[in-house]
Formats: sequence, structure tokens, C-alpha cells
Amino acid sequence: MIKGKRVGIVGAGNVGSTVAYSLAMLGSCHEIILRDNKIEIARGKALDMSQAAAAVRSHTVVSVAQTMAEMTDCDVVVVTAGSPRLPGMSRDDLLMINAKVTREVIEGIAKYSPNAIVIMVSNPLDAMTYVALKESGFDRSRIIGMAGVLDSSRMAAFIQEKLGYGGGQIRASVMGGHGDDMVPLPRYSTVAGVPLSDVLSAEEIDEIVQRTRKGGAEIVALLQTGSAYYAPAKSTAIMVEAILKDTKQIHPCA
Ligand code: 2OP
Repeated sequence: MIKGKRVGIVGAGNVGSTVAYSLAMLGSCHEIILRDNKIEIARGKALDMSQAAAAVRSHTVVSVAQTMAEMTDCDVVVVTAGSPRLPGMSRDDLLMINAKVTREVIEGIAKYSPNAIVIMVSNPLDAMTYVALKESGFDRSRIIGMAGVLDSSRMAAFIQEKLGYGGGQIRASVMGGHGDDMVPLPRYSTVAGVPLSDVLSAEEIDEIVQRTRKGGAEIVALLQTGSAYYAPAKSTAIMVEAILKDTKQIHPCA
């Protein structure tokens, strides 16, 4: 049998399963393997998604790995495993809990999918990406953190909301860490190619910058039981697609 593209997703919670669903709907890869300690729930989600893929005539099959040893030879592995933020928690509060989980997961990836490109999603994102880099021994080009795509999308959505027009034509740019110290870059943000400063006042731009920095916390406060997942998952899926198709696109990453 010809081996198609295979994507592993560790953690089948809200973010992990929404990444899987997004990729399955796009038919981006041949196979998606979900890994979660809650095996039955992961199995249920995998079946449900395989059936959704069949509904849209996508060839993608979603399966479950009971252990990391069953997640073999993946081209890309997305790591979402770990605890999400709860109201009042900073991303750094998760540091110790999620570093332990990340180490275990990365050990498995390095052993069973040694050629994979790893996309880290667990928080605190920048620190977990570093843990993954150290633990895996992989070249830095194969350990990438998802944050810039998400933070830039949030900024773009806030610009659209403020303007009331330009949706789908906004390029927002956010660099730096995925935390309250992130650096939204209005100077590198445009609406249909027009600089932001031509369409918004300095005060309006500052409001957007502040809201972007706290974009994750705004959603955590509303959801109460966890953190955002639609935009984080879609941002991750965009990166997976860019890698699998080798599109040569430019995305801000850790
Ligand atoms: C977010 O930005 C919690 O980091 C996560 O939504």
C-alpha cells in the first residue's frame, strides 16, 4: 500500500479534535491519528469525524492510537496535550503541569515518528516549544510553536470589528511571545493593502493592540470552563496544511 500523508494529534480535547476535524474536512492528509488518555472518547470522536469526512467525500480517515507506540511514522504531529487555562490562570501557571506532559509526549514522538515536524500548541506555548526542542533533540526547523497565526487572526478580527468593513482583506501582524508580552505590529498591518494608520486613529489602534494582547483571556473569561479552540485549531490546521503541501507560505511561529 502507498503510504499517504499521516498527521498525529496528541490530545483530543477541544483544540486537538477541532484541528482533526478541520484537516479531515479539507482532505489535507490520508490519515489522522488521535491520541488521548480518554480512549473511548477519542474513539467516538474519530468515528464521528471519519463519517463527516465521508459525508463531504474527503478521503481522510481518522483513527486512534492507544499509546504513543501506535502513532508511528507521522509526517506532522500536533501536540495539544496538557491542561487548558481556567479563569484567573495565566499561561505560566500551567508551566510545571504541562512541561511534564510535554516531555513524555515528545519522547514518544522522537521514538515512533522520528522524521515528523512537530507543532506545539500546549501552553505556556513558548516554554513548551522550548521543552519540546530540548527533549526531542530534533533540529529547530522541526519544532514549531503555533501562536503567531492565532494572535494575528485575533488582531485582524478586532480590526474588522472596529472598521465595520474590510473582512477577508486584513493582514494583521503579531510577533513575540504568546503571552501578555506579545507584540502586535500595526505598522505591518494593512486593510486591502492600505496601512492601518490611514483608516484608524492612534487611540483606536491602541485599543486593538491591547485587546489582541488579552485576546485569549477574553475568551477564557466568557467560556469559564476552558479556553478558546476554534481559532487556535484553525490556525494550527493552516500550519499543518502549509507543511504537508510545502506551500512556502510565511507564517509567524515560535
Ligand atoms: C489562547 O490564546 C489560551 O493561549 C490560549 O486562546
